[in-house]
Amino acid sequence: MDSIVIHGGIPLHGSVEASGAKNAALPLLALAILADEPVIYHRIPHLQDISTMMTLLAYQGADVTFDDQNRLHIDCRNADKPEAPYELVKTMRASALVLGPLLAKFRRAKVSLPGGCAIGARPIDLHLRGLEAMGATISVEHGYVTAEVPDGLKGAHIVFEQVTVTGTENLMMAAVLAEGETILDRAAREPEVVNLADALRALGADISGDGTDRIVVRGVKSIHGGDVFTIADRIETATYLTAGLITGGDVTVTRSNPADLQAFLRKVEQAGALVEIGDDWIRCAVQGQLQGVNMNTMPHPGFPTDLQAQFMALMCLAGDSSIIRETIFENRFMHVQELIRMGANIQLDGHTAIVKGVSKLSGAPVMATDLRASAGLVLAALAAEGETVISRVYHIDRGYERIEEKLRILGAHIERRSESENFVRGVRFVDEQQ
Ligand code: EPZ
Repeated sequence: MDSIVIHGGIPLHGSVEASGAKNAALPLLALAILADEPVIYHRIPHLQDISTMMTLLAYQGADVTFDDQNRLHIDCRNADKPEAPYELVKTMRASALVLGPLLAKFRRAKVSLPGGCAIGARPIDLHLRGLEAMGATISVEHGYVTAEVPDGLKGAHIVFEQVTVTGTENLMMAAVLAEGETILDRAAREPEVVNLADALRALGADISGDGTDRIVVRGVKSIHGGDVFTIADRIETATYLTAGLITGGDVTVTRSNPADLQAFLRKVEQAGALVEIGDDWIRCAVQGQLQGVNMNTMPHPGFPTDLQAQFMALMCLAGDSSIIRETIFENRFMHVQELIRMGANIQLDGHTAIVKGVSKLSGAPVMATDLRASAGLVLAALAAEGETVISRVYHIDRGYERIEEKLRILGAHIERRSESENFVRGVRFVDEQQ
């Protein structure tokens, strides 16, 4: 198992390009199940979670290939196994995104029920209830969800009890081939949902209202193949912008979309950062000591939970206190204890963290616990004095394409150390023996 080693304290400067968004690409890949022809994907990031989704589609019988221009082709015409096995779902919860499309296309599906995860219980009950409302019979047995709808899915009016991103995406895909109209109320408004709706429309689906909390899908008989484009990764973009700010530097992220990051940009501006935007770039730079600002995570267009750990790392070095409330997931403060080990002053009170700014952080061995917590630790390490070794970096590889390369472009001293190298240096971490 690899570690990332960072020598911190160097202000980052320069420009990097955003990758395609993981959380947009995953549902986009799942939509290929619905299409009667091959789908060609542009700007798919090379990430572990994307490989898992490709493996899952191949398991179902899809033909999955990259062409010489790095475009991904998925042809589901010969797919004949509407299943998602435990072995794949346990490594990536977003595998559940195939449930809606499989049921719409094959009228039956068997998908392993995702277990809990590091950041919370994360059930998929709202996905299942929506499919039931569309006429499916669902049972959960032996750890698997079995869904059947012999006469095909029927349009329904579904009101989500709570905003759910992949729940909205799953039901939107299911509704594309359903008979009649489906209304999704209290739908997620995330840019990734809009990206999926845009892609489905380009292939012949009839969808309106995406980007608002009411999405209307009028079922069509079939959708064709064609080109699908992934949006810029807004979470990755904001992570690199924060890397500039936390180190006292000046970073621009190109091929990004400022409109998708308004809540984040407002907060860093409020903290005292200089923010400049163009059509497809964002620049953030320090102009003096940043000040603490309070923040609550919220569904889009609120401040994203996927940036909470990174923002907290930034607030650790701000000139004042800040109160950070996590309202989406019940256990998304796993980075706090690690940040404290690096010298941060954070008090936890349930879902609230009170961060008192300190003048410096110091490098330490720390452990990544989930994808975004890891990103928070990388940011803290970039600002900290001395060496930080972050173990369990497979979490980072799930969501950050070429992270060391991109940070090096900005001037960071960062390297990946493999288990054997750690062993040679006599630094062998507990998790690496598992
Ligand atoms: C998506 O997860 C993202 N994943 C997450 O990104 C992100 O943190 C999350 O949305 C919130 O923005 C992908 O897009 C692949 P939810 P999702 O359903 O859809 C509860 C990352 O780091 N809920 O919007 O699984 C749930 O427990 C990841 O890239 C139910 O109770 O999240 C949570 O408290 C992590 N029942 C809340 O809703 C359900 O059926 C929001 O979760 C569904 C959700």
